[in-house]
Amino acid sequence: MGGSSPFKDQNKQHSTTTTTMTTFFSFWRFLPYTIYAILPMALFRVYFYPLPVPQSPTDRLPRSDHILVAPSLSSPRQAEKAGGDAVTEAPPPPPPPPCDYASGKWVPDKSEPLYNGTTCVLIRDAQNCIAHGRPDLDYLYWRWKPHQCHLPRFQPIKFLQLVRNKNVAFVGDSLARNQLESLVCMLSTVSDPILVYRDGEDNKFRKWNFPGHNMTISAYWSPFLVKGEENFPDYNKLYLDSVNERWAGDLGSLDMVVLSFGHWFVHPAVYFEGGSALGCHYCTGLNHTEIGFYGVLRKALRTSLKALIARTRASGRAMDVLVTMFPPAHFEGDWDKFGSCPKTKPYQEGEKLLEGMDAEMRKSLADEVEAAKADARDFSGIRLEALDITKLSLMRPDGHPGPYIFPFPFADGVKDRVQNDCVHWCLPGPIDTWNAILLEAIKRWRGGEMNR
Ligand SMILES: *[C@@H]1O[C@H](CO)[C@@H](O)[C@H](O)[C@H]1NC(C)=O
Ligand SMILES: *[C@@H]1O[C@H](CO)[C@@H](O)[C@H](O)[C@H]1NC(C)=O
Ligand SMILES: *[C@@H]1O[C@H](CO)[C@@H](O)[C@H](O)[C@H]1NC(C)=O
Repeated sequence: MGGSSPFKDQNKQHSTTTTTMTTFFSFWRFLPYTIYAILPMALFRVYFYPLPVPQSPTDRLPRSDHILVAPSLSSPRQAEKAGGDAVTEAPPPPPPPPCDYASGKWVPDKSEPLYNGTTCVLIRDAQNCIAHGRPDLDYLYWRWKPHQCHLPRFQPIKFLQLVRNKNVAFVGDSLARNQLESLVCMLSTVSDPILVYRDGEDNKFRKWNFPGHNMTISAYWSPFLVKGEENFPDYNKLYLDSVNERWAGDLGSLDMVVLSFGHWFVHPAVYFEGGSALGCHYCTGLNHTEIGFYGVLRKALRTSLKALIARTRASGRAMDVLVTMFPPAHFEGDWDKFGSCPKTKPYQEGEKLLEGMDAEMRKSLADEVEAAKADARDFSGIRLEALDITKLSLMRPDGHPGPYIFPFPFADGVKDRVQNDCVHWCLPGPIDTWNAILLEAIKRWRGGEMNR
């Protein structure tokens, strides 16, 4: 089992659990595509530096709107109508058929990004590619064109109007944080957010208030969604039947939750369920059965969505839930020579197929969202949707910081080994498109009102 074809090894390993690594050495050889485990802790921290979350007890405002379209959202529309003809209110036009934003292509677009490192102080250094001297800026000038429809550019004002009086949370790993920071940067072009909460350690949990719209956005660090212990580079521990209460405990004050996780599941871990060990992943030397991580990823999401549905039912509140599908990484070259992502253009249509681990991770998450939708079919208080950004992200190998996690990495000439981040996304960059699709999902949920 050579290390040259990571996906093949990966698949083989998961279909036959017998040929799993027997030595620590072979364990390392098994990790080509991840590079996570081979990088020093310092880089790991760059990658997975925890996500933010809100924890303010004063946030628990009683809510009485059981309907998803809150009065404050419907009133502007009624006001408009009243101004026009006050006769009979025509039934609203049916919402347009949902567009499949998941498949399409990237087309050149000259529009400037909504923000940059000067206008948004929130961009963390490791993702501030322009400030770190990335020389090619073509990656900024592409627009996602779904096959059957048009994806509007992100409209910050529209977003703020639609989430007025709402509490929104991003829950997950550093990709959740990446997406949240893109969103807050775009919103801050029209409304100044106030950071109202930040936890002491590692900035894992943050909360911003947009006072003009009585709205909050929070970030909760929870890379497994379920209860777990992060022990990198040793074995993580995951408790697959217990949701992580650090975020789930705050559900009573939230109106919308975006779940985004997955990359942590490739790391060595031991899994527990029902009080006993279920198995493990890359666990040479431990007396547990290797069970891979796809099924485990499913269970973690299932447990989380079940908790979301059950608690929303019990509370009588309304809840919107989006699950960001798996975003592919783009390491090329030998993993042990520090893979990099040197491309400067998107893939053309058909040039890159969704396959291997990326496809399997996406499918695992998508299946669980569908199963949860079926579970909640009889309950109008919760709406669930997949934010299917896997394909469009797969086609953007040019959108990662690469070596520009550090400032001017080639200032002293080209080096043999430079650490690269081919997991996270430059800000601004392709990840802004995830939020454009998020906004379309919210618009659709509002039944087509106020969206044109
Ligand atoms: C950032 O955006 C502002 C406003 O659009 C612009 O004036 C400025 O030149 C930009 N800065 C960089 C570094 O691109
Ligand atoms: C602000 O939003 C909360 C819900 O998050 C709501 O209970 C409250 O009434 C809103 N305040 C105003 C002034 O609209
Ligand atoms: C490993 O687990 C098996 C079955 O649970 C048990 O019979 C065996 O004694 C264990 N071996 C060690 C070294 O703990």
